[in-house]
Amino acid sequence: MNIQENISLQRLNTFGIARNARFFTIVGSSESLAEALSWAKDRNEKVLILGGGSNILLTADFNGLVIKMEIQGIELIAEDDAHYWVKVGAGVIWHDLVSYAIDHNWAGLENLSLIPGTVGASPMQNIGAYGVEIQDVFESLEALEKATLRIKTFSKQDCKFGYRESVFKNELKDQYIICSVIFKLKKKPDLNIEYGAIRDVLKEKGIDQPGIREISEAVIAIRTSKLPDPKVIGNAGSFFKNPTILTSQFNELKTVFPEIPGYILNEGVKVPAGWLIEQAGWKGKRFGEVGVHSKQALVLVNYGNGKGEDIISLAQQIQQSVMEKFGIQLQPEVNFI
Ligand code: FAD
Ligand code: EPU
Repeated sequence: MNIQENISLQRLNTFGIARNARFFTIVGSSESLAEALSWAKDRNEKVLILGGGSNILLTADFNGLVIKMEIQGIELIAEDDAHYWVKVGAGVIWHDLVSYAIDHNWAGLENLSLIPGTVGASPMQNIGAYGVEIQDVFESLEALEKATLRIKTFSKQDCKFGYRESVFKNELKDQYIICSVIFKLKKKPDLNIEYGAIRDVLKEKGIDQPGIREISEAVIAIRTSKLPDPKVIGNAGSFFKNPTILTSQFNELKTVFPEIPGYILNEGVKVPAGWLIEQAGWKGKRFGEVGVHSKQALVLVNYGNGKGEDIISLAQQIQQSVMEKFGIQLQPEVNFI
């Protein structure tokens, strides 16, 4: 085990925030993970698990042990007439898995193309895009319990997935470290092109019988057209969740803002936070080193030397102005560290 000291995390978080880890190590197996956790426990050091750092906001130096998850492996473990079960190490890069699945004609991940980060973090917030969430392709996962260093298997039900939610962000927060995930993928694709933009891109390209590769390419084209590339400009994707409001509140807002978009759900109406933020006048605004992306108002950006505190202050001002204009409370999607 190689424990390094005072390591910069700036290149290890996609916001590009310059903060340091007091201690830092990389793990490539559940055994080395257990070893690192024991080391931290013996010294009473707190622990942060880091995947691709694409959904965190560093607000301070981390005065403990940062464990970078690099457990590898993509393994076909079972199949039947209709499905493949694939076990994937937590440190595998999410989009590498998507590409591997497409190359092997394993269907189900194509709408989730190009989401940054690792497989191990994907269940944390039940990642989703373009009409699909990982709960749709999830079978089970194995996680190491911090307190006992024992491996536990979690079924889909155990994970309590919701929109950008799981048990690991709530009741079991900071208690388990995900080591591997088993996905249940399909032999015969069940194509999901409900998201209007996917249909439009396919039409533009003259594709009327898409396969999973064409869907993946369409998703990649849409994403690259509006989401900033973290290698060029620091960001963590959507900063807030899309709020669900009561149907009665939505109907009232519609009388004042007839063009307000909304998706009807059983529990109310989901309103795109990007629309609310744009209408409140924030889109493309820059404040020193931080700002609101010009093509997607839900994405806060760091132009280079921004601090976590600058992003938080901007986020709070946005929350306040959206509350004043629409009476809607925006909740952050990003994890504050
Ligand atoms: P990290 O940021 O490293 O970690 C996130 C949280 O999970 C932290 O609390 C960390 O401690 C914890 N964690 C990480 N790995 C483990 C593990 N193995 N076990 C236990 N806890 C762990 N998300 C979407 O859902 N849909 C999108 O379309 C999307 N688009 C994005 C676009 C851009 C440009 C960016 C920058 C981000 C986007 N995101 C999106 C957010 C992000 O990609 C996902 O949340 C991703 O799953 C984070 O993975 P990560 O490995 O980078 O996690
Ligand atoms: N919109 C605006 N102005 C903006 C941005 C959006 O008016 O600046 C409105 C438009 O009406 C648009 C609608 O919002 O039609 C939806 O926008 P978009 O399709 O870009 O999706 P989103 O709701 O902003 C969500 C996810 C993304 C995911 C996309 C595609 C959340 C919080 N975000 O964004 O996930 O990639 O849908 O499915 O649910 C992430 O979680 O980090 C992320 C990027």
